[in-house]
Amino acid sequence: MIILAVETSCDETSVAILKDGKEVLSNVVLSQIDIHKVFGGVVPEIASRNHIKYLTTVFDEALEKAKVTPNEIDLVAVTEGPGLIGALLIGINAASAFAYANSIPLIGINHLHGHIYAASIDNEIKFPAIILLVSGGHTELIYAKDHFDFEIIGQTYDDAVGEAYDKVARVLGLSYPGGPIIDKLAQEGKAIYNFPRPVMDSGDLNFSFSGLKSSVINFVHNNRQKNIELDVKDVSASFQEAVIDVLINKTKAAIEKHPVKQLIIGGGVAANKGLRRRVFEEIPNVEIIIPKMQYCTDNAAMIAAAAYYKYKKDGPLPNYLLGGYST
Ligand code: KG4
Ligand code: ZN
Repeated sequence: MIILAVETSCDETSVAILKDGKEVLSNVVLSQIDIHKVFGGVVPEIASRNHIKYLTTVFDEALEKAKVTPNEIDLVAVTEGPGLIGALLIGINAASAFAYANSIPLIGINHLHGHIYAASIDNEIKFPAIILLVSGGHTELIYAKDHFDFEIIGQTYDDAVGEAYDKVARVLGLSYPGGPIIDKLAQEGKAIYNFPRPVMDSGDLNFSFSGLKSSVINFVHNNRQKNIELDVKDVSASFQEAVIDVLINKTKAAIEKHPVKQLIIGGGVAANKGLRRRVFEEIPNVEIIIPKMQYCTDNAAMIAAAAYYKYKKDGPLPNYLLGGYST
């Protein structure tokens, strides 16, 4: 089964073509990071305008790389949310037009399901599973009984973990997105500062990162006022250690509460080298699967992978056709 997927929920314009949910024939990702960097974050209107500008070229490149013609495609998938509404609309309109023009069925995919199924591209997902979803907009622990049978058992009260990374990076004078930069600096620094681990021992599976973020920001400001120079590497390592301590602690608690066959980690922060290393060292007795680096941050291959399993589960999909269009 050949699926073409479109992802435009934030600042990546991406089209991918996958065979049977696993074989990536193409995954073209045009990142707008350089465009948004100067603003210190994503500007929604600019993101939408750049999706319009580049999406047809990205479509053509994906088809060309995959050596697939439209009449060979069995299903078109598109991210239907959550995300920036204007940005999503560009992808949905393009995918709908392509599907309609070529008489191909269309399916809408939840972006977070994409992050979960990113791990299925190179691994076999097994249920029941605990999913740790860590992105720029979400931080969730999910108990998955089966495909698309997901229950959120813990989530953040405030900031998502990626958001905390990006805000801490900003105060440290690092550019957007700060997550990968802090991760790199953390590998070179020492975790000598003891930042708080909010709600780590609360007994439930929820998270809070806003207090940790504020604590790091205050620490940096206080030292600047006293003209004390801080080593950005050590601050990064200390912040990252606090974040990962919390993520690992809560994930272990989730697995203790709900014995599972697998732990699946997904979302942009799953690209974090410190997290990837420590989960294998500190979470025993469960198979852990994490997507390859290129499938952690936003991309259309993960949307195609999710679409494959969603289509298999829901069959002829009348409920998932966008705008009531049917072939
Ligand atoms: O999943 P994603 O691409 O977009 C959302 O759906 O939000 O995640 C983007 C987030 C950003 O906050 C970025 O800083 C963070 O993932 N991120 C990282 C790393 N790579 C990306 N955070 C920590 N370490 C990384 N290596
Ligand atoms: Zn994402």
